[in-house]
Amino acid sequence: MTAEHAVLDPRRMRDVMGNFCTGVTVITALDGDEPLGFACQSFTSVSLEPPLVSFCPARTSTTWPKIREIGTFSINVLAASQRTLCAAFAVSGGNKFRGVDWTPGDNGAPAIEGAIARVEATLEAEHDAGDHTIVVARVTGLTALHSGGPLLFYRGSYGHFDEM
Ligand SMILES: Cc1cc2nc3c(=O)[nH]c(=O)nc-3n(C[C@H](O)[C@H](O)[C@H](O)COP(=O)(O)O)c2cc1C
Repeated sequence: MTAEHAVLDPRRMRDVMGNFCTGVTVITALDGDEPLGFACQSFTSVSLEPPLVSFCPARTSTTWPKIREIGTFSINVLAASQRTLCAAFAVSGGNKFRGVDWTPGDNGAPAIEGAIARVEATLEAEHDAGDHTIVVARVTGLTALHSGGPLLFYRGSYGHFDEM
């Protein structure tokens, strides 16, 4: 292996980037009466005027193409107490919503009970980015829900703030 390949090895990329601690979201949409969702840490705020956010779905995601088709979705920011729920939304297939309390939000997309914030949005643009894409979404609704602390993801593990 060349030195360049060693530096650019995907595992090394994952390990080093894992030092960047993030929150975790579940991005949801309603397909008829079927709720859809997947766990997503690549969520970030982009622009205030106009209000835009972004996230990066993997090309392997089976849920994102369905949500893209609907074009209207919610980004549910998870609470520290929602580790198990997060893990359920991080697997492909199956009924991820089994045992999850949710109601349709203002835009119809599932609002997950216990989330600390919710951002409702519509698809604005999507850009190629290697094995992921970069989604830019226009914010249509903002709700701060709970004062509890966020679920954190750091070096492949979940965590939380000590004193909240
Ligand atoms: C903490 C955490 C963060 C994740 N962040 C992302 C992400 O930003 N983008 C992504 O495509 N997948 C992310 N995933 C993986 C997806 O949740 C997972 O591949 C997806 O749920 C697969 O299901 P699907 O085929 O139904 O889309 C993350 C998983 C975890 C546990």
